Amino acid sequence: MIRIINVVGARPNFMKMAPIIAAIQRRAGEVHQLLVHTGQHYDEAMSQAFFRDLEMSPPDIDLGVGSGTHAEQTARIMLAFEPVVHEHRPDWIMVVGDVNSTLACTLVASKLGIRVAHVEAGLRSFDRMMPEEINRVLTDQIADLLLTPSPDADANLIAEGICPEKIVRVGNVMIDTLLRRLELSQKSGILERLRLQRGEFAVLTLHRPANVDDAAKLRGIFSALGDIAGSLPIVFPAHPRTQSRLREFGIENPRGLMVLEPMGYLDFLQLWGNARLVLTDSGGLQEETTALAVPCLTLRENTERPITVEQGTNRIVGSDPVRIVDAVSEVLSNGRSARRRAPELWDGHAAERIVEVLLGRS
Ligand code: UD1
Repeated sequence: MIRIINVVGARPNFMKMAPIIAAIQRRAGEVHQLLVHTGQHYDEAMSQAFFRDLEMSPPDIDLGVGSGTHAEQTARIMLAFEPVVHEHRPDWIMVVGDVNSTLACTLVASKLGIRVAHVEAGLRSFDRMMPEEINRVLTDQIADLLLTPSPDADANLIAEGICPEKIVRVGNVMIDTLLRRLELSQKSGILERLRLQRGEFAVLTLHRPANVDDAAKLRGIFSALGDIAGSLPIVFPAHPRTQSRLREFGIENPRGLMVLEPMGYLDFLQLWGNARLVLTDSGGLQEETTALAVPCLTLRENTERPITVEQGTNRIVGSDPVRIVDAVSEVLSNGRSARRRAPELWDGHAAERIVEVLLGRS
């Protein structure tokens, strides 16, 4: 019997960990698992709502660290996680993605001689101004097993001198969750509640510090949104960070832009899955829109997920207002893309492959 501690902390972790927990449960005789939530995200809408929508049992241990500067948050997670590792002495800890919780728990475990498996390893934006890029590079340097979603990720790790034996391409766990929840999401009723017609609205998400912490940039993006929303309503479930910046900078909502509270997984899937297009600075949504062939315009200068541009429906547009408005016009004049080329191994079975690999290496 091998013993694993699975770690989650922030919103984008939950949909990645859910299928792994389910796949381990199906091998309960061989693997014992414990779920630790660091508490990096703590609002009902940013955390508990996802446990419900993804049918995850509550965490076994909640470290309750909350928000803070990067140093404060990372340090608090490390201090709280270390005694948990001492007490349970797992064979592995499993971390996902690139949030502060991912790096903090990896650091603690690797110094205690516990093996670390990193899911979604190898993604690189090559932009060290992004906190997530620092988290990715450092986590991958010290993790013992690097479970990657796509060939570009393998190549990035090899280029950083990582031993090839540590790298296993397993596919995309986010897509496991997407495929598993798609049918249930049709019953969400969100389109009716918001009085939206399929294909006649856009969905926006925006929360990266590079976009929302800079008043001039956020104003520019909102002026572009105002132009677009005149002809295509935009639905915007707003991250708490963005809501507070909009208030702080006194930026008004343009007509046609519907600003809402953050949404649960099922409502949000039903929403963006039926949108004419998605505007986002999220990483995960670039992948999800690729899987369902919804046109996606990424409001960043780079992506750590180039496969979504090469094989999918994603375009990197940046934050210049003129470029954003032009890109939306282009999508609208092209007709809805019918192209659907899910990258290899984005097939709904990544989590099962992960459990196989772990058992094989234990
Ligand atoms: C974190 C991740 C980012 C991910 C994002 C998804 C890092 C470095 N960043 O960024 O990669 O894309 O989550 O949401 O780990 N807040 C609340 N309630 C919450 C959580 C946060 O109000 O439940 C507010 C707090 O004011 C907080 C701010 O949002 O200070 C930012 O939260 P934080 O966890 O520091 O980073 P995110 O921007 O959410």
